[in-house]
Amino acid sequence: MSNSLGERFKILTFGESHGNAMGVVIDGVRPGLDFDLETIQKELDRRRPGQSKLVSPRPEEDRVEVLSGVFQGKTLGTPICLVIPNKHQDPKVYNALKDLFRPGYAGYAVLKKYGIRDYRGGGRSSGRETVARVAAGAMAKRELAKEGIQIVAYTAEIDGIKAQSIDFNEIEKNPLRCPDRDAEKQMEERVLFHKSQGDSVGGIVQVIARNVPPGLGDPVFKKLDAEIAGALMSIGGVKAVEIGEGFQVASMRGSDHNDQMDRHGFKTNHAGGVLGGISTGQEIHARIGVKPTPSIQKEQKTIDILGRERRISVQGRHDPCICPRIVPVAEAMMALILYDALLCQRDIEKKTDDLERLRAEIDTVDHRLIQLLARRNEISQEIGQYKRVRRLEVRDRAREAEMMDRRIQWAKDCGVDGGLIRGLFHLIVKASRGIQLK
Ligand SMILES: Cc1cc2nc3c(=O)[nH]c(=O)nc-3n(C[C@H](O)[C@H](O)[C@H](O)COP(=O)(O)O)c2cc1C
Repeated sequence: MSNSLGERFKILTFGESHGNAMGVVIDGVRPGLDFDLETIQKELDRRRPGQSKLVSPRPEEDRVEVLSGVFQGKTLGTPICLVIPNKHQDPKVYNALKDLFRPGYAGYAVLKKYGIRDYRGGGRSSGRETVARVAAGAMAKRELAKEGIQIVAYTAEIDGIKAQSIDFNEIEKNPLRCPDRDAEKQMEERVLFHKSQGDSVGGIVQVIARNVPPGLGDPVFKKLDAEIAGALMSIGGVKAVEIGEGFQVASMRGSDHNDQMDRHGFKTNHAGGVLGGISTGQEIHARIGVKPTPSIQKEQKTIDILGRERRISVQGRHDPCICPRIVPVAEAMMALILYDALLCQRDIEKKTDDLERLRAEIDTVDHRLIQLLARRNEISQEIGQYKRVRRLEVRDRAREAEMMDRRIQWAKDCGVDGGLIRGLFHLIVKASRGIQLK
């Protein structure tokens, strides 16, 4: 079962909704980083249920505890284990649902796969599982922020009502996390109305990453947009992900969609900040389609685990609309992907540093070669003087041939190309003759 994510900043989440605790093990955190529990707690508080009548009333405090990997406020470089206890399990409610499949929920598919399921609150498929992602994402977000990279998400649409204006300061001021106050009021009414009818509503959440450096991602199977889409789609209840113009591309022309460039950079951002699977340095824009919460009180048809037809009305503490709670989760997933991609890119850059080091070494060798040639020229001058005094011929073809043979043999012994040495010494000997004739 795939409970882990990431290559360099690896996370593994664990826990069931009505088990003892939820948690995450994070591996790959550099030693010596400031570990700030408060930042993590703040993000968890944003995701926490029971914040308004527009979300699940489960009164979880979601206090995060650190089990390992941190000492005196610093990361040790060892796995960090964060645990969030489940304090308000209420499995009694689920006894009635024990043998029934909730329409739209994961139970049917989970039982088909494993032959066993934790029916209490959905087990691993519960929205509660995302608390662990948010805890890990908070760490990634903090490290990204040190690089100036910011991630923000908001509710862009609920039940067909769209945010018309975007005021980023407004997002955290209203319970639906919508950047348009007026639209949010209409959304609230709609959510409460459908809740009163025992129903739920869906919506769209927009995720934006700012100041992402160019070069993150990969060109083929691990394209940055593919990784982002996969991470966002892995959130329970998400049924669609768009990057940039998304499905709008179907009705655009190349001349509209292409992001033209001039010397100041890109003129538009239809691509959503990724080209060829690699970040361009523009903002990354993703939108996710969030389905209406499956657990609703409205009576619906279903079957039980023996395949008998039954009717179901789901009681318990459910979100009438998941969007506002998905906002911090979506930010966490974007942060996890970007931070991992950033660390992978740093590795490549480190290898480039190695290349720089090797190039410096080549420079040193060449410098030495030139110093040796200078010394050789001095010797040639002395030989020239010697020959002048004794009236000897400068050129000695037999000696030159014998010299050349010896050098080619040395080259062979050292694994150096004989042709290269022949050409090189042809030039050197010619230059040497010139020096002796002066
Ligand atoms: C933060 C969050 C809260 C959620 N709350 C509920 C809920 O209260 N009731 C419910 O039935 N589903 C809820 N879900 C959705 C289910 O987890 C999800 O629909 C279910 O696991 C089936 O997965 P799928 O919809 O991705 O196919 C929530 C999801 C998230 C991310």
